[in-house]
Amino acid sequence: MKKCVLVSGGAGFIGSHVTVELIEAGYDVVVADNMSNCDLTCFEGVKKITGRDDIPFVKLNFCDPVATDILFATRKIDAVIHFAGFKAVGESVAEPLKYYRNNLDSFMNVIDSARAHGCRNILFSSSATVYGDPDELPVTESTPRKEATSPYGNTKQMCEDILRDSVKSYPQLRGIALRYFNPIGAHPSALIGELPRGVPNNLVPFITQTAIGKRECLSVFGDDYPTPDGTCQRDFIDIVDLAQAHVFAVRRMLEDGMKKDYEIYNIGTGKPLSVMELIKGFEKANGLKLNYRIAARRAGDVPAIWADPTLANTELGWKACRSLEDTLASAWAWEKHLAGQ
Ligand code: UD1
Repeated sequence: MKKCVLVSGGAGFIGSHVTVELIEAGYDVVVADNMSNCDLTCFEGVKKITGRDDIPFVKLNFCDPVATDILFATRKIDAVIHFAGFKAVGESVAEPLKYYRNNLDSFMNVIDSARAHGCRNILFSSSATVYGDPDELPVTESTPRKEATSPYGNTKQMCEDILRDSVKSYPQLRGIALRYFNPIGAHPSALIGELPRGVPNNLVPFITQTAIGKRECLSVFGDDYPTPDGTCQRDFIDIVDLAQAHVFAVRRMLEDGMKKDYEIYNIGTGKPLSVMELIKGFEKANGLKLNYRIAARRAGDVPAIWADPTLANTELGWKACRSLEDTLASAWAWEKHLAGQ
């Protein structure tokens, strides 16, 4: 009998890539999403990539406890990966209650229903944002979390704590939190990728939209940081590499391979790259010139953060392997696909 994984927020950027990798690894997947920040483009892409027209899709708001419970009651779910949540840092500062209510309620409902219906395994999509502005680099899982720089970041910290405490008190549960660094790129098929609504907040969608002519000019937020070239440094990780980490984590849970009932892993490459290096890399990978200018720093940005992914490499047996060039070519191919080119 195939094991079944519920992917909440499965129609979004990360969720759709994870759905593909789970199906290709032999799992059954149920995708559930309230479509608040996406359309069916990526879900249709997932069906094309996997050649599966029968992937169950449930339109569902996980803030609704009754609807969430019915989903768990009516399907045999072995593990749940929880992506459903709001993710815009700036918006979370403007509307903190919207973020706390949505991101916390939905996760607590998922845990409650999982418990009630015998689903033991819960994977939470956390973020490097939980480290705030770290005192040491690279960050390991035991690097202290510092105060989050936004309500969005705070919801990631709080959801980690909710999962940790739930696992501690409800012995039938076990959990994994994956702390993502900066996922970029798209599936090599160019059938799924990032679909920002309005003006993109994140760097790579802004770059690709500038390259295609949708935006006039990319602003580089600050070139006076205490970093080698003055621009911020991040750990940019290919979205397919990142998606595959979930397959390793789910397998570890389902095959009783966990050493503790709650585990945390950094999901990154371990290599810092500056904003300017990324821009140059994009130009080189795709043979084009990007219109950019140096602008003021953006509030809330940390100067530098990158992962020590040793624990994920050794314990999960997972490692990021795609080249920056391939990743940036995939991001560009996706933008061109969206433009019908
Ligand atoms: C943010 C979130 C992170 C989330 C990630 C999703 C925080 C502090 N950050 O990361 O939690 O997981 O998005 O990918 O919560 N930049 C520009 N010009 C632009 C856009 C960005 O120069 O138009 C720079 C930024 O200043 C930053 C870097 O590019 O130094 C990366 O920015 P971004 O893609 O927004 O990701 P983060 O802020 O690192």
